Amino acid sequence: SQERRSLVSSLIEDVPDFPKPGVMFKDITPLLASARGFQAAVTELVTTAPRHVDVVVGMEARGFIFAAPVALALGAGFVPVRKPGKLPGDTISHSFELEYGHETLTMHRDAIRPGARVMVIDDVLATGGTIGATAELIRELGAELAQVSVVMELAFLDGRARLAERGIDNCTALVTV
Ligand code: PRP
Ligand code: MG
Repeated sequence: SQERRSLVSSLIEDVPDFPKPGVMFKDITPLLASARGFQAAVTELVTTAPRHVDVVVGMEARGFIFAAPVALALGAGFVPVRKPGKLPGDTISHSFELEYGHETLTMHRDAIRPGARVMVIDDVLATGGTIGATAELIRELGAELAQVSVVMELAFLDGRARLAERGIDNCTALVTV
C-alpha cells in the first residue's frame, strides 16, 4: 500500500558526505530498527512478486536482509550472490565497473536449476551494476529472471535505463528518489 511505502520512505535517512565528500548516503538502518518499518518493507516487496517464484536471490550484504524474509514469505528458496572468495563450491562470476576499479560477484554453479523462476531483491538500485551482474549470473545458469525488486531507486543515476539496455525491464522500486 501507499501508506506502507510512505513509512518505508520516511525511515531511510539521508547522511551527507558518506562514505566520501559529496555523496549522499541512504541509510536503511533506521528502517531495519523499526519493527513496523521493516515489516512494511518486506510486505511490500512480497506484493511485487510474480505468481510463481522458485528462488529468491539476494546480494551481499544489504540485499540479504530483505531477500531472506521475502523468500520465507513466498515459500521459495534463498540463494546468495556473494563477493569473491566466500563460496566453497564451484562458482560462476561476473565483473562490472565501478567509479574506481571493479567489483566481482559470484554464485554457486549448482544453486539454481535451468528454467527456474528467480526473483532478485536488493536494497538499492543505483547505477545498476550490482543488479546487472546478478542478472548475468542467473542467465548463465539458464534460469529465468522473473522479477527484480528493490526498496529504493536512485533515479538520478539512471540505473533503470542501463538495465533496460541489457534486457532487464521488470524492475520495481518501493521508493524512488
Ligand atoms: C550497495 C547497495 C546495492 C548497490 C547499488 O551495495 O547495497 O547493492 O550498492 O549500487 P549499484 O546499482 O551502483 O550497483 P555495496 O556494494 O555498497 O555493498 P553492501 O551491500 O555489501 O553494503
Ligand atoms: Mg549491496
